[in-house]
Amino acid sequence: MVLIGFMGTGKSTVSKLLSEELGWTRIDVDEEIERMANKRVSDIFAEDGEAEFRALETRALAEILLSDSSAVVATGGGAVLKEENRRLMLENGHVVALKASPESIIARVKTDTSRPLLQGDAAGKVKELMEKRKQAYDFAHVTVDTTNMTADEVVQFILDRWNQGQ
Ligand code: S3P
Repeated sequence: MVLIGFMGTGKSTVSKLLSEELGWTRIDVDEEIERMANKRVSDIFAEDGEAEFRALETRALAEILLSDSSAVVATGGGAVLKEENRRLMLENGHVVALKASPESIIARVKTDTSRPLLQGDAAGKVKELMEKRKQAYDFAHVTVDTTNMTADEVVQFILDRWNQGQ
C-alpha cells in the first residue's frame, strides 16, 4: 500500500494507523532517504540540491517497493513527479492519494521548519505548488479527501476500499 499526496495531507499519521490496523510494517520514504544520505532532507536540499534529493528519492522508492509487499509506504509530496516513480508505485502497490483543501494544508504546515520547499511564505508556496501539481496525484487507484475527516475515518475508508478490491 502506497500513500501519496501533497505535503500536509496526513500521510504520516494515516500510514502509522494503517500499518497498525493491517499489522504491516510502515516505511517512510523521506526517513529512508535520510538514512541513505545520513543527513536531514532539509540539509540534502541545502547542500546537494533538489535534483540530488529526487535521485535519492527514486532509489529509495525502488528499493522499498521492489522488496517488501506487506508494507504501508508513506511517500514525500513530490515523489509523484517522475514518470519512473509513478510506474514503480502502480506496478508494485495499491496507490492511495490523500487530498485536502489549501486552507487545511496551510494550517497544518505553516509553522513547519523541516520542509525546504515551504520556507518563507508558506501559504504562498503551498498555493503555487498545489497549482503546479494540480493533477499530479490523479493516477492513484483510490483518492480520499481528508479535509473534513479524522485520521481514523480516513483509515477506515481506505480499509473498506482495500477489502472491496480483495
Ligand atoms: C516534498 C515533500 C516532503 C519531502 C520534501 C519534498 C515535496 O515530504 O519529501 O521536502 O516536493 O512535496 P512530505 O510530503 O512528507 O512533507
